[in-house]
Amino acid sequence: MTSPSLPAELKAALGAKLEGVSRNEVAARSALISKTYRDGGGSGTIRSEADALAYALARMPATYAAVAASLNALCEVRPDFKPETLLDVGAGPGTASWAAAEAFSSLRSFALLDANDALRTLARDLARGRARLGDLKYQEGEASALLAQSEPADLVVASYVIGELGETGRTELADLVWSKTRDTLLIVEPGTPAGTARILALRRRLVAAGAHVAAPCPHDGPCPLSAPDWCHFTQRLPRSRAHMQLKSADVPFEDEKFAYVALTRAPGTVHPARVLAQPLAGKAEISAKLCTTDGLVIARIPRRDKTAYARARRWRWGDAVLDES
Ligand SMILES: C[S@@+](CC[C@H](N)C(=O)[O-])C[C@H]1O[C@@H](n2cnc3c(N)ncnc32)[C@H](O)[C@@H]1O
Repeated sequence: MTSPSLPAELKAALGAKLEGVSRNEVAARSALISKTYRDGGGSGTIRSEADALAYALARMPATYAAVAASLNALCEVRPDFKPETLLDVGAGPGTASWAAAEAFSSLRSFALLDANDALRTLARDLARGRARLGDLKYQEGEASALLAQSEPADLVVASYVIGELGETGRTELADLVWSKTRDTLLIVEPGTPAGTARILALRRRLVAAGAHVAAPCPHDGPCPLSAPDWCHFTQRLPRSRAHMQLKSADVPFEDEKFAYVALTRAPGTVHPARVLAQPLAGKAEISAKLCTTDGLVIARIPRRDKTAYARARRWRWGDAVLDES
């Protein structure tokens, strides 16, 4: 399992970048970037080296944790998946590449692309001299133009990117990234109703084009949830002292809500149910909302069924319910 914490090498590289930089200035820049995101804008406000660092300090721990959790879910249903090549689309500071390097020791080549020069420069600085990512290839430019010429990869990741594109751009990007996916495509978005809706639209389109869902869904059919409910997950991650200062936070952790889909070329062999909310443990039973191959189920596990009850007590929101779990 990949930890939700940034790898020590990455933390050290970010810490080194922060040396001699005014914390107040970084906090002000990061507040502006966060406000732009909250107001529905994208990463257009990230223009300088200082902006890129502010973005990375404020958001990289959370987007890393979300990608790590999504990759853990993928690995759980596909333990024999050993990708050698990665394509990280809209890579920003390289977040998904770092998470994939942790999740898959098999990865030997990392291709990243992004339109933002400041984030690309930061990603290269953070990776320079590091054991796994030291010789990553990072291209700067519009994703659609670069993808057309990219080599296909075993694993393609688009993390927190499609929300920055309009509907036509998203559809175009979905087709392109799928055409460059040799085995598995992972798309991660914020766990808002809008983020989930974007994932579901691309899932529908790519399933129609022949993709299969590896995770989180145990089926390729329509999502059984309907508004106001939506499919999303949450990942707790630690906050460093700098991270806390930056966000004027009181607690040393945060919970990142995210939505994701992992699509594969070949159908999977296991289709575990997925826990869609934190199960409720009452006196007489545990009740859990599960997405199953037969649709949405509220499972009720009575305390008197000792073995099943003990198993269900371990279920957490986002878990796959494998036969023996
Ligand atoms: C919110 S950041 C996410 C960065 C990184 N993937 C992560 O998870 O931390 C979105 C990134 O997508 C990039 N991006 C957005 N639209 C793009 C496009 N059309 N072509 C290339 N990159 C794009 C932005 O420059 C930015 O770096």
